[in-house]
Amino acid sequence: MTACRVLIIGRSGQLARALVRAAETRNVEIEPVGRPMLDLGDIAGTRSWLRGRLQAPDRPDIIINAAAFTAVDAAESQAEQAHRINAEAPAMIAAACAKADLPLIHVSTDYVFSGAKRGAWVEDDPTQPRSVYGRTKLAGEAAVANSCEKHLIVRTSWLFSATPPNFMTTMIRLARERREISVVEDQIGTPTPAAALASALLTMSGRAQDDSAPWGLYHFGGDTVMSWAGFAERILATAGLTGCAIRPIPGSKYPTDAERPAWSALNSSRLAAAFGCPPADFNVGLADAVREHLDAH
Ligand SMILES: NC(=O)c1ccc[n+]([C@@H]2O[C@H](COP(=O)([O-])OP(=O)(O)OC[C@H]3O[C@@H](n4cnc5c(N)ncnc54)[C@H](OP(=O)(O)O)[C@@H]3O)[C@@H](O)[C@H]2O)c1
Repeated sequence: MTACRVLIIGRSGQLARALVRAAETRNVEIEPVGRPMLDLGDIAGTRSWLRGRLQAPDRPDIIINAAAFTAVDAAESQAEQAHRINAEAPAMIAAACAKADLPLIHVSTDYVFSGAKRGAWVEDDPTQPRSVYGRTKLAGEAAVANSCEKHLIVRTSWLFSATPPNFMTTMIRLARERREISVVEDQIGTPTPAAALASALLTMSGRAQDDSAPWGLYHFGGDTVMSWAGFAERILATAGLTGCAIRPIPGSKYPTDAERPAWSALNSSRLAAAFGCPPADFNVGLADAVREHLDAH
């Protein structure tokens, strides 16, 4: 069987890297593209590049958009740029895919929710983002859904991997420098190994390639709900860093430019039923990522 050709928009990000690695053990040819060659801030330039790429004889079978303006706090003061990368660029990519009759997998976020629900969010729950980042990502979802019929939008949450920077690698670094780290305890979510998300996205790609995918909106998160402080404790315990304590603090004691949802845990049942990919195993994903990170650092 011919390999599925997947164009990944985003190259050095943690999800893009995880996708490249996940493809190594599958019948998938990966083509990651990113800056400086492809800058989503330049919409016209990206459109023209994509048009050429999608007309080439070796054109991809599917596109995964793993790129985003992910600096949640910086987005508050760079709203225009965040909107361009998170909403206008996905709209343009989706239109290009529709024109070429190509499926698009677009990655989105738990931060589209208000945080008011005390439980894991499902796909049909009402959205109400509290930040510029969340609003621009929600606008990107709408644009993709409206422009490209063959779309799979996958919201994920609290991604971690062995590659810095992310919350896991930051906690390990700080634990080596300090006796105590204060971490927010009143924001609850589902930490998700980037490797598990990448694997699920490639499974979805296979279904999209043979046109058997149930198009639409899905959630994919880890299988364990916890606070940032709880997550930090699990990271340090897994890394064997016993000389540093986690001090749980309320979010009000750690002010940030962007407001975050109090509860943003995701329920991943719909994706599990549709694609046979269960929610990510948090313990296994954390053990793997910590081991790989400690080996390299
Ligand atoms: N990280 C999380 O905790 C989290 C949680 C929920 C949802 N998500 C979503 O998951 C997806 C992947 O996130 P991630 O954690 O992998 O993010 P990341 O590590 O910050 O990587 C961001 C990616 O976006 C690309 N990018 C940013 N600006 C760009 C531009 N102007 N032109 C081209 N590419 C640009 C970067 O590309 P270059 O390689 O060219 O630099 C990089 O590959 C995003 O859609 C994000 O919203 C992430």
